[in-house]
Amino acid sequence: MQEQKRGRFIVFEGIDGAGKTTQIELLTSRLTKDGRRVHRTAEPTESVSGGLLRDALSGVSRRSPCEMAALFVLDRIFHNTNPVNGIEKMLADGIDVICDRYYYSSLAYQGSETDAKWVQEMNLSCPEIRRPDLCIFLDLTPEQSMERIASGRVTVEIYENLDRLTRVRDRFYSVFETLADTDRICVVNAARPIDEIHADIVNLVRDILK
Ligand code: TYD
Repeated sequence: MQEQKRGRFIVFEGIDGAGKTTQIELLTSRLTKDGRRVHRTAEPTESVSGGLLRDALSGVSRRSPCEMAALFVLDRIFHNTNPVNGIEKMLADGIDVICDRYYYSSLAYQGSETDAKWVQEMNLSCPEIRRPDLCIFLDLTPEQSMERIASGRVTVEIYENLDRLTRVRDRFYSVFETLADTDRICVVNAARPIDEIHADIVNLVRDILK
């Protein structure tokens, strides 16, 4: 019997307003047109832990920085192992997984709010949190990010202000340095026309499909 080829696991990251949703949609339809099966997903997930996280992010409930970091880990473990449509199950079935945010966000956001080593250890040493095949970081300056947020959204989440965006972006960069030997991370300039960004992303993804 021919062995099923595993799907590829692609993560999109970026500071708020970088256009992840648009680029994920474009990549999903490109890969689908190429005959691949694709599962789109995101963190926080739609599970109970994801709901707790969304309440805290929007300010409906209050959580300490350590609670947030631990909840994101819990949510991510569920995301990986859920037997119905979890990341592991999808990849094993030969389906590509495109995920909007993953542990890089925890290392950058929660890592700047509490002990960064602890956050890193929880995420990277966990046997039930898989490493992606590719992480695409859509990059904007914090000023460009604020402009986009201001023009497009009614609700402003707790992680969105200029100082914080600056710190988070700096942290993303230092996280990427730390992970340079273990993770395939590509930084893409997101302050360009949508189709140019998409073309760059398609080239990056082609490299991991070979
Ligand atoms: P959401 O509005 O759902 O998505 P996005 O901003 O990507 O369009 O917000 C998710 C928020 O959760 C975002 O502000 C970053 C934050 N976050 C963390 O702080 N840590 C994490 O591990 C993840 C996955 C997200």
